[in-house]
Amino acid sequence: MAVPIEPHFVDSNHDALYAESVNNPDRFWGTLARKRLRWIKDFDTVKDCDLKLGKISWFLGGKLNVSDNCLDRQVEQHPDRVAFIWEKDKTGDHETITYKQMLEMTCQVANTFKQYGVVKGDRVAVYMPMTPLLAAVMLACARIGAVHSVVFAGFSAEALKSRILDASCKIVVTADQGIRGGKAIELKKTVDSAVAGCDCVKNVFVMHRTGVQVPWVDGRDVHLEEAMKQQPTTCPVEPLDSEDPLFMLYTSGSTGKPKGLVHTQAGYLLYAGMTIEHVFDYRPGDVFACVADIGWITGHTYVVYGPLGIGATCVLFESTPVYPDAGRYWEMVDRLKITQFYTAPTALRLLIKCGNEHVTPYNRDTLRVLGCVGEPLNWTAWKWYHSTVGSDKCTVVDTWFQTETGGIAITPRPSSDHSTPKPGFPMSPFFGVEPVLYSKEGELLKGNDITGHLCINEPMPGMARTIYGDHQRFIDTYYKPHPGVYFTGDGAYRDADGHYQITGRVDDVINAKGHRLGTAEVESAMNKDHRIAESAVVGYPHEIFGEGVFAFLILKDGVKDDEKVIFEDLEKLVRKWIAAFAVPNVFLIVPGLPKTRSGKIMRRILRKVAASEYDQLGDVSTLANPSIVEEIKAKHMLLTSKEQ
Ligand code: WTA
Repeated sequence: MAVPIEPHFVDSNHDALYAESVNNPDRFWGTLARKRLRWIKDFDTVKDCDLKLGKISWFLGGKLNVSDNCLDRQVEQHPDRVAFIWEKDKTGDHETITYKQMLEMTCQVANTFKQYGVVKGDRVAVYMPMTPLLAAVMLACARIGAVHSVVFAGFSAEALKSRILDASCKIVVTADQGIRGGKAIELKKTVDSAVAGCDCVKNVFVMHRTGVQVPWVDGRDVHLEEAMKQQPTTCPVEPLDSEDPLFMLYTSGSTGKPKGLVHTQAGYLLYAGMTIEHVFDYRPGDVFACVADIGWITGHTYVVYGPLGIGATCVLFESTPVYPDAGRYWEMVDRLKITQFYTAPTALRLLIKCGNEHVTPYNRDTLRVLGCVGEPLNWTAWKWYHSTVGSDKCTVVDTWFQTETGGIAITPRPSSDHSTPKPGFPMSPFFGVEPVLYSKEGELLKGNDITGHLCINEPMPGMARTIYGDHQRFIDTYYKPHPGVYFTGDGAYRDADGHYQITGRVDDVINAKGHRLGTAEVESAMNKDHRIAESAVVGYPHEIFGEGVFAFLILKDGVKDDEKVIFEDLEKLVRKWIAAFAVPNVFLIVPGLPKTRSGKIMRRILRKVAASEYDQLGDVSTLANPSIVEEIKAKHMLLTSKEQ
């Protein structure tokens, strides 16, 4: 008899359901899509994919609206349920926003956008602080079929500008200032310099976060809240095709140009909701806290669409883990009675250093599931999370996913009653996910206790559909390296029990301070300095950041400037072109770089040097200039001996 498609959190049927999800995805996801989403028109085809063409489609022929699913449908059932607890930067100063209030706010934003000529398919750049209005702006776009492109409000004007231009955004939504860790962040000023020269931008909408006077361009700039006040609190939803774009989100890849990954409507929303329930055991009445910034995929999926799609109550966190002190998270858990907490390993490692006296004074008895994402959760951090924060009573879920997968794809499954998480292991695939490992040479690696390139056999409903404006790059990056499967860019180890551990990126991407960063982006920013002949950036193990950013530099002949001055100028360049988080932790001037005869930099060698693993440099004989390795090594040894 066919297994009933009714997953419960603790489910003795879990294995059978998982098998069904990968063997019969049409039945599995088709049933859930009809049960869990509200459709304006039912779909007729569950799935139509052709991976060689990078074609992924789910729920074809169906029409729905994500904002209707996240708001109207919820309001009909529980208008006064709290959607967001907005935990403002200033501690103790939280505000609650009900589903009804969110719906009204969203409708007013949607009507405002419509009044200014935003129509279905238009791209909307969003550069805002962590406020409920940011979520309302996203949902307003979803309501009218506009495509939001949220840019993390820590990115520079140049980075914002390139993203606005790449997507030809019609409007930009920002705030006078942001506020984080007690410090004001000049969002409007940054937008002003970004938008100068962007002919596509017709209007800049400005919300008021701090209320300071900011420069104003008459005719272009609009006070968002004032415009909203003129608008009705209802707005019809636009019926959208399942595969119409919902949003785009830029992320780093191996080249200097970030890619705008496009997610669509039904599959993304279904997958987001399924993962939040089944990874975090979300139950009615719980208070879910994902402290990631909405500027990243974790915030899109686990602050906005996932929680609202299932009618959850979610904390929207504006501050930092150490403001006003390192007890911020746990004081908040105590005050708001948080049941699930989701953060990044880098934050945990920072807090471990600050001492347990910031944890123990607060009551954490409400916590049931503690989650982490973004980089490997090392054993020490896992243990601290489990024992000190969770008092050995909570489930720790080290979840793996990517901007590309849309939602959690590999994770300990508290929903299956027999998998005890192993520290450092995201463990097992979620429903519908079939991980496979390939050798570098493209051979499928069968069996256990083996390491290879992590790929996914069949696309889940939440997968990205394309790179905005460059479908060929989408195919080349994800579906060509190992034909017929999705290539994640990560390496993974499958242990003797078949559980997965992520071994790190196998491409030129690093995960520094919880942020994904392309080494080529940092290099191209630094190469703008007239004294730099060449640069090579690699990641290296860093106690708190997970990976630090290490820059090897070659100066042009005859440059005599003081090293310190050069490094400061390079730092400024990286801040100007990317963001403060991308600034290298270490700069090292070297006489040359290890290159193959065809001129390719052997980053493997640089990574080993940066990690002080001199005995693991491997074979250097194929280099065009093998002797350079000893010279770089000597320079690095000198640097580290100076630091000690
Ligand atoms: C890394 C973040 C180890 C990985 C949601 C991936 C992880 C990249 C984990 C995606 C984990 C994410 N263990 N590494 N649990 N989770 N990563 O797109 O390298 O910002 O490819 O999405 O983060 O980063 P992105």
